[in-house]
Amino acid sequence: MISKKILDLLNEQIKKEFHSAYLYLGIEAYFQEKGLKGMANWFRIQAQEELDHAIKFFEYVCEVGGLAQLGTLEGVTSTYKDPLEAMKASLHHEQYITKSIYTIVDAANEEKDYKTNSFLQWFIDEQVEEEANAEDNVRNLELVKDHPNGLFMIDREMATRVYVPLTPAGA
Ligand code: FEO
Repeated sequence: MISKKILDLLNEQIKKEFHSAYLYLGIEAYFQEKGLKGMANWFRIQAQEELDHAIKFFEYVCEVGGLAQLGTLEGVTSTYKDPLEAMKASLHHEQYITKSIYTIVDAANEEKDYKTNSFLQWFIDEQVEEEANAEDNVRNLELVKDHPNGLFMIDREMATRVYVPLTPAGA
């Protein structure tokens, strides 16, 4: 059985991952309304991935005999000044999630909780990719600024992203 401290952190992380999905649906809504369907697609898939992350934490808590807690989600905005602001919100959020994962890793290390530490390695790697993708999005938009042709190209590129479900453990 894992400690109460680790369990609480994992339960908080379940909520943070669901909140991530909510945040990204808000960004999708912004892009849908602006007619930037490719960017909207990208954030829908991002939201789906966040739900996978939440479930992955949820399943781990259940697997180790803990009681999974599902806290109340706060509302998120669907309004941004421009596409760049939305992309930056995504990047800042991923940086926050990375720190949150590291906090759990540090706590697991302190308690010599090898099981949780091993479980979290997947998320450490995932966050490298999450931050890199968000940084690319910000950089690309900074390059094109508000140039319509550039926005069109980025939107078309982001339309090609497809959702790949996580492989269930043991499959
Ligand atoms: Fe679940 Fe985008 O971090």
